[in-house]
Amino acid sequence: MKKYVCQVCGHVNLLNELPDKCPVCGAPRKSFSEKEDALKLPADPGNMTELEKKHVPLITVNRSCSLAEGCLDVHARMGEIVHPMLPEHYITFVDFYLDDKFLARLHLTPEKLNPAGCIHMKAGGSGKLTVIESCNIHGKWISETAL
Ligand SMILES: [Fe+2]
Repeated sequence: MKKYVCQVCGHVNLLNELPDKCPVCGAPRKSFSEKEDALKLPADPGNMTELEKKHVPLITVNRSCSLAEGCLDVHARMGEIVHPMLPEHYITFVDFYLDDKFLARLHLTPEKLNPAGCIHMKAGGSGKLTVIESCNIHGKWISETAL
């Protein structure tokens, strides 16, 4: 999937136009360059390979979170088969987007963390929720769900 990627922090831009600066690291617009293979998708979503099952984010939404009234707990794990978290092979970050606009990034370290993360959205959140995860060896993988 062809997209603009920040060459400083690896953030993938999902909007039709580039922002003035990267919403993750603040690098200027000129830091983005178009990459042919920016994002990976399973070849056949109904029949994923083991590699794909380890990388495609699985998104779940908990609508009964007690953090705040109406809070949406959006959880992503990598993946259906748990991805390794070893110093030489791990999930480096997870980016969350709402309607293609950047919401949050979680940086992961391999020693003490499992490959998952969550955000808590304020009440009334709706739209298309996208998660992109970055594996240090196998690239960036995307999945989305409707809120
Ligand atoms: Fe991987």
